Amino acid sequence: MAYSSSLSFQSSHLQISSHTHNNKPFISSKSKLLQLPSNHHFFKLTNISRIHLNTVHASISERPTILQPSPQQPQTSKAQPSNLPVRKIPGDYGLPIVGPWKDRTDYFYNQGKEEFFKSRIQKYQSTIFRTNMPPGPFISFNSKVIALLDGKSFPTLFDVSKVEKKDLFTGTFMPSVELTGGYRMLSYLDPSEPNHAKLKKLMFLMLSSRRDYVIPQFQSYYKNLFEELEFGLSTKGKCGFNEANDHAAFGFLVSAWFDAKPAESSLGRDGPSIIGKWVLFQLHPVLSLGLPKAIEDVALHNFRLPPNLIKKDYARLYEFFYDNTGGLMEEAENMGLSKEEACHNLLFATCFNSFGGMKIFFPNMLKWVGRAGVKLHTQLAQEIRSVIKSNGGKVTMRAMEEMHLMKSTVFEALRIEPPVASQYGRAKKDLVIESHDGAFEVKEGEMLFGYQPFATKDPKIFVRSEEFVADRFMGEEGEKLLRHVVWSNGPQNESPSVSNKQCAGKDFVVLVSRMLLVELFLRYDSFEIEVKNSALGAAVTVTSLKRASF
Ligand code: HEM
Repeated sequence: MAYSSSLSFQSSHLQISSHTHNNKPFISSKSKLLQLPSNHHFFKLTNISRIHLNTVHASISERPTILQPSPQQPQTSKAQPSNLPVRKIPGDYGLPIVGPWKDRTDYFYNQGKEEFFKSRIQKYQSTIFRTNMPPGPFISFNSKVIALLDGKSFPTLFDVSKVEKKDLFTGTFMPSVELTGGYRMLSYLDPSEPNHAKLKKLMFLMLSSRRDYVIPQFQSYYKNLFEELEFGLSTKGKCGFNEANDHAAFGFLVSAWFDAKPAESSLGRDGPSIIGKWVLFQLHPVLSLGLPKAIEDVALHNFRLPPNLIKKDYARLYEFFYDNTGGLMEEAENMGLSKEEACHNLLFATCFNSFGGMKIFFPNMLKWVGRAGVKLHTQLAQEIRSVIKSNGGKVTMRAMEEMHLMKSTVFEALRIEPPVASQYGRAKKDLVIESHDGAFEVKEGEMLFGYQPFATKDPKIFVRSEEFVADRFMGEEGEKLLRHVVWSNGPQNESPSVSNKQCAGKDFVVLVSRMLLVELFLRYDSFEIEVKNSALGAAVTVTSLKRASF
């Protein structure tokens, strides 16, 4: 099947220019189960909060993240090189082993992530400083990073002429490749590596060739989810969103992209729970599950969990993908990739990147929209329903483009709590990196790290930066701010390509997030929730759903 090589979904238009020439979906080839190579490996999400099951009370952080917000207008123009004085980068790494261990315990337990960064910004009077990042010994032996904690310096991490992105998707350690069939996955490849372009093209092909299936499959799986929530509410008075979302997201993804039905395969309903374990094996060095500190730090942060323990489960997932991705694997072979490498990558992109993203972001977005209250709900319901009505009752990408408040609400949720918070990049050459307050010399080979919420809540860029302002990105001025929304490892007004490291699923994520709000507010006038923290984003319980009355 022929396909065009570049995908340029402009997120503002959600047009996909890459396409198969005959526009046919891939047919699942029921190929034979292949042998799983004896070693495999897993994915990234270094922004995991603790699993403490306390209800979250505050809707905004109590303390500002950045040194005194300037009274000037937030900047909306591109940062120009300035004449800021060059300063030595403050901070140090401490003694070997002790320094990384101390920073790790501060990060997870003594201070917690946000306070860890805020207190150091205060101490050094700088948003750029040296520190260690977890896990440290004995999983990673070089935990030294230069932290970039403002919206001006953070974009250095997207510039692949300045940073190398090899093997640092999860930060200062890389999970064993035994967790991914013995292959280094696309997310760990630098654009300079030949397979990066081939595999990214494969992802673009998957996304573009099945674009017509996304909206109907989403509607089908999330209709079931809403029915499940309603049933839970009618029988128990409340219903958890996360587990229902896991099943809906997995079913939706594999049916939209591969025309696959897990329930009719030997995988059954086990997909989401297997993925959960598999992701834990990859990310445990940078997770906190809320267990007692002494036990958790020893069990999760000092040594790797043996990949063998998850091998059988992964093989089940792999078999399911191998049986259902035949057409795409053939395309991959035409590009010079092996079927096996393609299949492990399709599995990874679906289960780690996409399922993982929806698992974190959907509950988080519901949390922010839920907390915003009835006024916003009513406005969204009015906007969404009136556009759909004038579109003959059909939900289409074009119709969603006209829902300006809904679109802005999605971007605001991605700004205020970017689902993948940590990004890394290794300086390819000596650089000078500027924050708002100073310029800093970085040497070739040094590891740069950015904690994204500090960039997207930078008060020198966004007014009321700690607040959820649903209409923030509406209108001409609002849209200009989209270049500071960087959840996809790049600005919202730029596109992923084979030569950059921007998220391949950028426009897909925006589309499905819009769909969630559209389906929600077509069905309901308003909703209420309770929110707790979990290891991966918010744990949301729906406590009321008010059916559409207009
Ligand atoms: C809420 C959902 C998602 C979020 C927050 C997210 C975020 C990210 C981020 C931050 C990166 C860059 C990581 C780095 O290099 O430091 C990335 C890369 C990537 N994402 Fe996503 N992603 C999401 C969904 C998806 C989906 C649906 C796909 C589907 C194909 C996808 C595929 C990829 C791939 C293949 C890469 C590596 C790109 C490359 O190597 O050039 N992601 N994503």
